[in-house]
Amino acid sequence: MPSTAPPFKPLPSGEIVYGDLALTSTSARQKSSWLSNLALVAVGIALICNWNRNTQSYDPLLALVGFSIISYVVTLVLIPLLGPEFVRIGFHGRDLGKKDRPLIPETMGAVCALVYLVTMFFFIPFLFYKYIVTDTSGGGNREQGIDIGSTLLHTGQPMRMFPHSKLAEYLAALLSSFSMLVLGVADDLFDIRWRNKLFMPAIAVLPLIFVYYVDFGVTRVVVPKFVYQLVSPNTAELPVTIDLGVLYYLYMLALAIFLPNSINILAGINGLEAGQAFVIAIFLLINDALYVLPSRLFDVSHPATEAHLLSMYFILPLVAVTFALLRFNWFPASVFVGDTYCYFAGMVLAQVGILGHFAKTLMLFLIPQVFNFIYSAPQLFHLIPCPRHRLPKFNIETGLREPSRVAFPEPPKKLQTVMLKLLASVKLIDIEVDSKSGTVVSASNMTLINLVLTWTGPLREDRLAYVILGIQAGTCIAGLLARHTILPMIFGRDNL
Ligand code: UD1
Ligand code: MG
Repeated sequence: MPSTAPPFKPLPSGEIVYGDLALTSTSARQKSSWLSNLALVAVGIALICNWNRNTQSYDPLLALVGFSIISYVVTLVLIPLLGPEFVRIGFHGRDLGKKDRPLIPETMGAVCALVYLVTMFFFIPFLFYKYIVTDTSGGGNREQGIDIGSTLLHTGQPMRMFPHSKLAEYLAALLSSFSMLVLGVADDLFDIRWRNKLFMPAIAVLPLIFVYYVDFGVTRVVVPKFVYQLVSPNTAELPVTIDLGVLYYLYMLALAIFLPNSINILAGINGLEAGQAFVIAIFLLINDALYVLPSRLFDVSHPATEAHLLSMYFILPLVAVTFALLRFNWFPASVFVGDTYCYFAGMVLAQVGILGHFAKTLMLFLIPQVFNFIYSAPQLFHLIPCPRHRLPKFNIETGLREPSRVAFPEPPKKLQTVMLKLLASVKLIDIEVDSKSGTVVSASNMTLINLVLTWTGPLREDRLAYVILGIQAGTCIAGLLARHTILPMIFGRDNL
């Protein structure tokens, strides 16, 4: 994790002194960071202008790496500049995991989302420029379309530029991300009730789903060969697919609702919201590279290559802006990411799963989020009371985080008691029982973070974040290995 201290810090008094920024601005560290930022921008520009005279072509992926480097620097510069402004208009929160509960800027995910979207706008001409050249008679009408993709721009570089049909999907994805940004900011402003905000991503994803319906419309999925052989034992051809029809659209909707919300509820310690999105995005990039690199190095292309290249195009800038955000949100955080970031990042990840047609692979990378959601369900659906905040408790004496608890002022009902005692017996929660009456007085809140703490004992906030992100990375590695070893056996092929 980055070790450079953020350029401004909240004071223990609980207020932010932005003069801190002015004081450090002339320091050697600040100068060197300006120099390194300038150097990074220069590298970014060089990569964007990667015109190859010999082949008379350029590489959009390299250009996007350049854009992403610049978007990283821009986010790094904008967050400390805009932080005080955000606080001034009320986007702030108290860090409940620190002694003096300092007040720091919130909703910084909005800065990331904006930089991300602008990057993706600038990238449009690099990805789609003159794939189809049109002749006009001068009156503005398109008389003729000449596909030069296969003759000039694609010479010697298959799968780099996209046909214009992809532009619709690309723009629809950006529209969905933008809608998510607006709804996320609304949530940070109005602190919308959980049961209402749960469905906000369903609204944001509509442009993508409708464009998918009119433009792409693939609703077939590969099924495990043994399932298909049960239904149709004589089938010789593998892999086999079934058409899910409208169910496929419901599946996409469910993915778009699940991802942003699951990132948002695996939260409450510095660096975790942005950290988990960062780790998932890195593993998606690794998976994409397994398809894209062979096609580039050995000039062999595969039907899935284009989808994974598109996925890379969406994820690279997300990794860049998230890394910049993490530098400020990592322990001790000087900004919060806000629900805006969780929704936005979750939406981008859901989009690549949908457009790349690899939602099942994506789910393999989301095992901690799926676990946290199922584990949280009794509280989310109010079978067990759910306090406003379930983040781990800060022990003022030790400075460590401990599991937070939900208290039962009234004795829990029979069903609740059975559920609590059952979970406690398999060490999934920690309960406090009244020795006289035997009734449950309190229980640890049902989140993955609290569960880890009940198993490990109290931890410092950054160590706890490392443990959870370690679990995230570990499950992603397992998911990646399973995706390319066990699953191909079950499904009849690996589409590498
Ligand atoms: C979700 C969780 C909630 C958790 C909260 C923490 C559910 C149903 N909701 O709610 O239990 O407490 O996220 O983000 O599981 N904060 C910190 N340190 C951090 C991050 C956040 O103290 O590192 C506090 C700050 O006061 C911040 C607030 O959490 O202002 C943000 O909470 P918010 O994101 O609005 O909570 P929810 O997403 O609704
Ligand atoms: Mg939140």
